[in-house]
Amino acid sequence: MGRIVCLLLICLWLWSGSLAAWASVDPGELAKAVTEIELLDQMRTSLAGTLEGSTEEPTLDTFKAVCAPVGRRAQAIAQENGWQVRQVALKYRNPNHKPQDAAEERALAEFAAHPDLQGFWQRDERGVRYFRRIDVQASCLVCHGAKDSRPPFIQTKYPQDLAYNFQVGDLRGMYAVIIPELEKALEK
Ligand code: HEC
Repeated sequence: MGRIVCLLLICLWLWSGSLAAWASVDPGELAKAVTEIELLDQMRTSLAGTLEGSTEEPTLDTFKAVCAPVGRRAQAIAQENGWQVRQVALKYRNPNHKPQDAAEERALAEFAAHPDLQGFWQRDERGVRYFRRIDVQASCLVCHGAKDSRPPFIQTKYPQDLAYNFQVGDLRGMYAVIIPELEKALEK
């Protein structure tokens, strides 16, 4: 009898071990998320850089071509990989970018409290989350600087805009990726 219980316990232990492995993050996928977000951030920096110091009067098209394409690229990355990819900010311009849950609120608070914190990942019931900070650079101020100096298209298109009056070095927000865990992805 004792032997059977012992065997059962061993089986249970093996089974729970394989469950833990099943639910763990794939390091390759996490690394890919980090890389994709760095590329996405570079895309914004270089698009904003093309406007900076430009002597030509910016047209509506050039003004639109910085953060909206970043949002579209974020959606494409999400679709290609089966992840959720978001930009999140307390002072948001597009209301889709306000924090969606307590985990995002906590992550923003972490970045605000620790200016040296560049990014981190954690696990919760939604899967593996990766967060990466976004700071304000000089090239961002043409659209995220003083309220009255925002380009007219922003003032008309985003009447609820909160994303202005920033200064260089301020925390602008963060990227937030959710990689659903395998078992949860299969349940769907
Ligand atoms: C040409 C104007 C322009 C410039 C320059 C610009 N932004 Fe934006 N930004 C916008 C607009 C417009 C949106 C809203 C886009 C949307 O609807 O998704 C936005 C949205 C964002 C968001 C998403 C959160 C939110 O508030 O909706 C972040 C983060 C952001 N900008 C960061 C930056 C950073 C960092 C820079 C400089 C590297 C920068 N922006 C430069 C116009 C600009």
